[in-house]
Amino acid sequence: MFLTDLWYFGALSTQVKTGAPIHVQIAGQPVLIGRDNTGKVFALRDICPHRAMPLSRGRQIEAEDGQTQIECAYHGWRFGVDGVCTAIPSLNEDQKEAMTRGKIRTRRFAADEAQGLIRIYFAQDETAAPLMAAPRLDHVGDSTPGLSVSMMFDCPLDHAIIGLMDPAHIAYIHRQWWWRTAKSIHNKEKKFGPLERGFSMLPHVPSSNSFLYKLLGSKPQTEIRFELPGLRTEYVLVGGRQVTGFTAVTPVDDEHTKITIALYWDHPLLNVIPNFLLRNAITTFAGQDRDAVEAQQEGLKYDPRLMLIHDADVQAMWYFKLKKEWAEARAKGRAFVNPVKPATLRWRS
Ligand code: FES
Ligand SMILES: [Fe+2]
Repeated sequence: MFLTDLWYFGALSTQVKTGAPIHVQIAGQPVLIGRDNTGKVFALRDICPHRAMPLSRGRQIEAEDGQTQIECAYHGWRFGVDGVCTAIPSLNEDQKEAMTRGKIRTRRFAADEAQGLIRIYFAQDETAAPLMAAPRLDHVGDSTPGLSVSMMFDCPLDHAIIGLMDPAHIAYIHRQWWWRTAKSIHNKEKKFGPLERGFSMLPHVPSSNSFLYKLLGSKPQTEIRFELPGLRTEYVLVGGRQVTGFTAVTPVDDEHTKITIALYWDHPLLNVIPNFLLRNAITTFAGQDRDAVEAQQEGLKYDPRLMLIHDADVQAMWYFKLKKEWAEARAKGRAFVNPVKPATLRWRS
């Protein structure tokens, strides 16, 4: 089951234009993400409560009172951005009142937009307000991504997440001259600490086996954070400049996971690298992860026992512990206690 009472990544701001709502699927739920006529984003369960037509097949209109509404394509029922049905065209005057007085509604999700990212809150109890404010990226201010890449992985969420955080695969799956070579494997030692709902590979000078880091200039500082439900952020700070890679790993359903990578920077080097080269590099990298987890699905069909081995897999173990603790804390309505303790992990990669 997917975790609730958390903010999930919904879409990039650029994907949602006023008047043109989009359909996405998050954690097994169909979601319509729209932008009202003031520019504010909203999110509704993308199913008409009348006869299940996806509301995103309908059209967005501006009612006489200026309010934004979604009109279902099938029988023209209308819904406000709060999900409440405001009109049923097939009713005559004396049938109208009782039917439409706020009783019919589709679910509304809390939606948030900042830094070019739209986030959607999945509440266990749909009437409850979010437990926490929507997350924000550090260091990027109000800027929006200079580049983004989305990709579907045909695998369940957990394998996609573990595949992205696991350090031992890098020299194998991502072996390429501009990143790692077989000879570049060496001993690593990294310090980790807990975050509110995750953990951080604490700021450090990154491994000298990354050719790309060398290009950024002297002594870049890197921090890699992981937070529930599947948000990985890599901050690189160098000479007062930043390069930030945000990766949202979003469950679509039990067998599909969407990866969205958004890159922010104010480092001049990235302005001179042509956009298509950066995009190719990110697409190649993420495509290697996708190919690995999709091939892994072949083996998983036989339901083998899996191993998590020593320090290189401790982050994966933490992920499972975080998930379990979050689910338990929410089920019991108690405070979440982060199971991650500060640690130094050592591996070769
Ligand atoms: S299915 Fe939406 S109005 Fe009938
Ligand atoms: Fe990878």
